[in-house]
Amino acid sequence: MHNDISRILISNDQIKERIKSIGEQITFDYSGEELVVVCILKGAFIFGADLCREINLPLKFEFMSISSYGNATTSSGIVRIIKDLNESIEGKNVLIVEDIIDTGLTVSYLASLLTARKPKSLKICSLCSKPQCHKTEVKIDYFGFELPSEFVVGYGLDFRDLYRNLPYIGVLKSDIYTRFLEN
Ligand code: IMP
Ligand code: MG
Repeated sequence: MHNDISRILISNDQIKERIKSIGEQITFDYSGEELVVVCILKGAFIFGADLCREINLPLKFEFMSISSYGNATTSSGIVRIIKDLNESIEGKNVLIVEDIIDTGLTVSYLASLLTARKPKSLKICSLCSKPQCHKTEVKIDYFGFELPSEFVVGYGLDFRDLYRNLPYIGVLKSDIYTRFLEN
């Protein structure tokens, strides 16, 4: 798996350090409040799992699966709900946890969907953001890293559902894509 990576953009140590400080910031910002973390599957499951252990608050977890991608590397703009929340979020503090904001279409759609359910507050936390790729204005309340407009994998992020378990964020060797196009 590691052999398929051409370069590491963000190391595991950098990710750990950053998550710790985001967790501290969230703990501070919501002090005295309860929080519902909405982890967006599949990409945010690793980030969400690590982040929640750096948050010192009464925390509840919800999982939502939304897709704006098929198996390729470009946004289709089509957002599909695969799995909705289990519980109502009305009157609750809600934090959306995403892996990456690329065009921003997925998270914008999600934010408007959840706002309609009348939470007490709604914020967005994303491990990564690609500011040059945003097609819509998104307010990201907490984010880990700004990335160039390059396709990345690892730490939850996939290419064709693989590479999520890489402990760092990196770029695939170009022949991986070539091989995929040939098949
Ligand atoms: P958006 O709607 O374009 O912002 O896309 C957001 C979703 O696309 C993310 O939750 C990821 O699942 C996926 N995505 C965007 N960029 C990348 C990338 O560089 N690597 C892997 N997945 C990505
Ligand atoms: Mg995703």
